[in-house]
Amino acid sequence: MVTSSAPGKVYLFGEHAVVYGEPAVPCAIGLRAQAAVERRTGGLRVRAGDLSLDGFAVEYNGGTSTPEVDVPENLLDAAMGYVNGAIDQAREAARTRGVAAEERSFEVTVDSNIPLGAGLGSSAAVVVATIDAAARELGVQLPREELADRAYRVEHTVQDGGASRADTFCATMGGAVRIEGDDCETLATPDLPLVVGYDGGAGDTGELVAQVRGLRETHPFVADTVSAVGDLVRRGERALAADDRETLGELMDINHGLLSSLGVSARSLDAMVWAARDGGAHGAKLTGAGGGGCIVALGDPAELERALSYAPACDDAFHAQLDTDGLRREDE
Ligand code: MEV
Repeated sequence: MVTSSAPGKVYLFGEHAVVYGEPAVPCAIGLRAQAAVERRTGGLRVRAGDLSLDGFAVEYNGGTSTPEVDVPENLLDAAMGYVNGAIDQAREAARTRGVAAEERSFEVTVDSNIPLGAGLGSSAAVVVATIDAAARELGVQLPREELADRAYRVEHTVQDGGASRADTFCATMGGAVRIEGDDCETLATPDLPLVVGYDGGAGDTGELVAQVRGLRETHPFVADTVSAVGDLVRRGERALAADDRETLGELMDINHGLLSSLGVSARSLDAMVWAARDGGAHGAKLTGAGGGGCIVALGDPAELERALSYAPACDDAFHAQLDTDGLRREDE
């Protein structure tokens, strides 16, 4: 059995706009998804020890089946789609290297402490860890660039063409990264004091990306909001390089306002953003696709955790430390 893991992430800036070619800066954090893969006979079997949903196991023999668990079906379908897509990518990577992988079946056990669909990159972490572990089970060590690219292809398919390279590149490389279209690079970054507030809910990334696309089509001037996000990300990169926390916070606040105008915030996310600001944050914004899930705030971790813990909208708040490893091969 081989085991790989990959981190979740928060967006300092740029989610949604990155889908339209604007730059974005996500940053890997110390929550992880782990995939353990071993060969078996008789089809793909996926077990989720803890996917931040009740444990489930599902078996495939080419067709589809829906496990009987009490979670929204769209989240479950997406989770299964990600694991299936990851196994296909591992098989293809093996095939292109002359390893006959078509008939190989696997048991995949996924454990993750990244809440599902909450804007912390759970799906990207699961996909990166699963592709890497399944490829290694087939005897293939993928270079990180190829792994990130294959993981992106899975997200792109599951999210109906609405995914950027941001989440998957960040989960593979770790640290802070910069994405603009197909250009992906790692950034030297200070270990910023970031706190995550989680409302206990989730959003459907595919649906939220489609919603923004619809808004842009109905009101062409919405394209200006998207390009304003790009401008603030470029300013944010300079503030990040200078470790200028006042400016970073100000830009996070503006980014939240722009995301809100794109219709992807929620009452609970706004309430947590305000609780963090009232608690002395330099700035705060929703992170990821939105609709529900998490916010990220910059400032004193103990004070922000306390401020968020008093907010009725907040289910959990924690200090999110920078992860610099990205993909980890746990058995090496
Ligand atoms: C989701 O974590 C971030 C989005 O920008 C979609 C993407 O970049 O794939 C909303």
